[in-house]
Amino acid sequence: MKIKVSRKAHFNAAHRLYRQDWSDSKNNAVFGKCNNPNFHGHNYELVVSVTGKIDSETGFVIDMKVLKDLIKKEIENSFDHKNLNLEVAEFKNLNPTAENIAVVIFNKLRPLIDAKNELEIVLYETPRNFVTYSG
Ligand code: NI
Repeated sequence: MKIKVSRKAHFNAAHRLYRQDWSDSKNNAVFGKCNNPNFHGHNYELVVSVTGKIDSETGFVIDMKVLKDLIKKEIENSFDHKNLNLEVAEFKNLNPTAENIAVVIFNKLRPLIDAKNELEIVLYETPRNFVTYSG
């Protein structure tokens, strides 16, 4: 039997979507308002889920305090109140779309979660737009 446990987290961050190798008009056509050269912010909502067996001794899949602290240390401390393009190394050459942010979060957390458990990242960029990545 497997069960999924989830922890919600939150960060505010600024970004700009564009490609240096594209013209201004193509960047505007593809990325619209998200190509604003002065950046813009989002209130990102993050749901990190771990799926696995319930430990017979603790009754946990993962200690939620441990998961909370991992998310705080690895994600919130790196992303919250940051300009993703300028201040977060992973996005120096990677467009900080919701898709790419979710993959970066997954890749940061995956080595820190017991390998026998599954990891899933759900990232809301707006209340209506969200992406899911599980490797
Ligand atoms: Ni945006």
